[in-house]
Amino acid sequence: MLPGLGAVDGGATDPAGGAAEAFAGGLDDPAPPGVQATARAAAPTRIRPRRRDVARCFMVGDTHSRLIRFLPFIHDQSGDDERMRPTATDEPGVELLDAGDGRRLDRLGTRLVDRPAPSAVWPPRLPPSDWAAADVRFDRDAGWTGGDVTPWTVAVDGLTLELRPTAAGQIGLFPEHVGFWPWLRVSLAGHADPSVLHLFAHTGATTLALAGAGARVTHVDASRPAVAWARHNAELSGLADRPIRWIVDDAQAFIEREGRRGRLYDGFVIDPPSYGHGPRGTRWELAEALPDLLDACAAVATVDAVVLLTAHTTGLDANDLADALIDAFEPAPGIEFIAESIEETARSGAVLPLGVAARMIRG
Ligand SMILES: C[S@@+](CC[C@H](N)C(=O)[O-])C[C@H]1O[C@@H](n2cnc3c(N)ncnc32)[C@H](O)[C@@H]1O
Repeated sequence: MLPGLGAVDGGATDPAGGAAEAFAGGLDDPAPPGVQATARAAAPTRIRPRRRDVARCFMVGDTHSRLIRFLPFIHDQSGDDERMRPTATDEPGVELLDAGDGRRLDRLGTRLVDRPAPSAVWPPRLPPSDWAAADVRFDRDAGWTGGDVTPWTVAVDGLTLELRPTAAGQIGLFPEHVGFWPWLRVSLAGHADPSVLHLFAHTGATTLALAGAGARVTHVDASRPAVAWARHNAELSGLADRPIRWIVDDAQAFIEREGRRGRLYDGFVIDPPSYGHGPRGTRWELAEALPDLLDACAAVATVDAVVLLTAHTTGLDANDLADALIDAFEPAPGIEFIAESIEETARSGAVLPLGVAARMIRG
C-alpha cells in the first residue's frame, strides 16, 4: 500500500476529518438509482444550463452513439502502454438472458435472477418456462421470492464480487458499467501512477477494476454499508492491499475539501443517482446538482484528466451530459467527446436501455 493512501476502517474514513455519515440514496433507498428510478420521471430531464462559451466543431454518429469532436484528434488510444495492466475481459460470470414486460432476466454466476427493468417495454423473447426457471424474483410489493436470497459471488472480468439481494431490489452490481472498463484502462495508460476519483462508487466493481489495473483509487460513497461491501469485494478479489482510499461521505462535500487541500486527480468515474440524500438529509437531485458537482471535479482535475460520467435518469439526453462535461472541464482544442446511450444486449437479442454516458480525455 502506498504511503498516505491506506485504507481506513469504517467510521470517519476521510483522513482530513470530513463528514462520514451513512444516509439514504444507498442500498435500501425505496427509490434507488438505476432502472428502478427510471420509472419515476415522466418528462424529459434537463440538466440545469450553464454557460455555453465553448464552441463545438462538428458531430458525427446518431442518437445512439454520438461522437462530439473538437478538431483535431490528438489522443492515441492504442493502448500499447503497459503501465495500466488490462485484465481478462471475457469472464462468463454474468449475462443478461432476456428483458421484456418491464423485467430483466439475468444469469448472475450460479443463479438466475428476475427483477424489474421499467425500460423493457416490449414482450419477452424467451418463453415463460425460461423466466419461470429463475431462482429468485423481486417485485415491489412482494419483495424477493423464490429460493436462496443469501449472498453469493460472481466472477466479473477477473474480479470476485459478492451479490446480495437488497430490500430495494438491487443486487450490488450494475453490469452495464463493465463495458467502460477497457476504455478507462486504455485512456489512463498514458498516466504514470494514475490517481482516480470514483464518486457514487457503490459496491466498488469499477474501483476494483481500476485498482487491479494499477491505479490509485479514491472510492467515495455516502452509504457506509455500500463502502463496507466494496471493501469486502476488494478482499474477495485479492485487492485489499491496493492503494484504495475508502471514503464514506457526500460526493460534493468531499470534492470541495479535496480542492481546498490542493489534491489533483488524473481520472474521474462519476455515476450519480437520479435522487439521493446528502449529509444531514439534504436532497440530491441530479439535474440541479450536477453542474456544481462537475465544476468541483474540474477544479481537482489534471489538464489531461480522463472523465467518465454516467446517469440512469429517464429522459436525460447524452448530449446534455456531454454539454455539462464541456461546461465544467473547458477542454482543450482537439479533444474527443463521446456521448452515448448505455444499453445491454441480452442473449435473446433484446436491447435494454439503461441510461446515458459521456466521456472524454480533457487535454
Ligand atoms: C447508481 S449507484 C452507483 C453504481 C456504481 N457506479 C456501480 O456501477 O456499481 C449510486 C450510489 O450513489 C450513492 N450516493 C447517493 N447519494 C450520494 C451522495 N450525495 N454522495 C455520495 N454517494 C451518494 C449511493 O449510496 C449508491 O451507492
